[in-house]
Amino acid sequence: MNQVYILYICLCLLAITIVGIYFGFSAPVFIVLLILTIIFGLILFSSMLYSLIRIIKEQKMYVPYVPTRTSTVKAMIDLAKIQEGDNVYDLGCGDGRIVIEASKIKNTKCIGIEWRKDVYFMAKISNFLKKGNAVIKNGDMYKLDISDADVIFTYLLTNAMDRIEEKIINECKDGTVVVSHGFQFKTLDLIEEVHVDRTTIRKYKLNKKI
Ligand SMILES: C[S@@+](CC[C@H](N)C(=O)[O-])C[C@H]1O[C@@H](n2cnc3c(N)ncnc32)[C@H](O)[C@@H]1O
Repeated sequence: MNQVYILYICLCLLAITIVGIYFGFSAPVFIVLLILTIIFGLILFSSMLYSLIRIIKEQKMYVPYVPTRTSTVKAMIDLAKIQEGDNVYDLGCGDGRIVIEASKIKNTKCIGIEWRKDVYFMAKISNFLKKGNAVIKNGDMYKLDISDADVIFTYLLTNAMDRIEEKIINECKDGTVVVSHGFQFKTLDLIEEVHVDRTTIRKYKLNKKI
């Protein structure tokens, strides 16, 4: 069961128990409510602990959902110089704003992947409302096949950047363009750096010839 639902159940049970204290529920009802609250509380705690252990074990490196500002999205797309027919990816696409905008460029195939279900649904709805042509996937970006990528967008934290850089180098073809918001890549060739909206966006190219 989703952790959010368990949290709702716990809160409801807690509220009923508090109401019970105020209105003086009979002792057996009160005890049953209290036991149920404790059981669901324990389920919630263990499920959160399990998720945390899984994140650490699978080295998923937590990256929070922080959307890129609209003006920065435009600057990133301009910097990428997407061509007709390009395959474009946003790894950790959030609400899909970058791939949705990019999908308006003729004949592009734009794919965004987001592992948080709630954010993924936001991206799907946004793609529909903004009449985008992006393909929004729910899943782990480290497991996505990006070998046909021409342009890749990222807005991640340092640890995730290191892991995704390794994936790009191993899987992508020579000349793949990578545009990052915020943090830097260590080994990709830096082509251009632009300061916009008090943040920095960088364009890199994968050079496999060295
Ligand atoms: C800082 S946000 C950037 C969102 C979007 N790219 C943008 O610029 O507006 C990073 C996103 O990556 C997602 N994310 C982190 N790790 C991921 C993974 N392993 N697979 C898929 N998405 C991931 C997070 O849930 C979050 O929504």
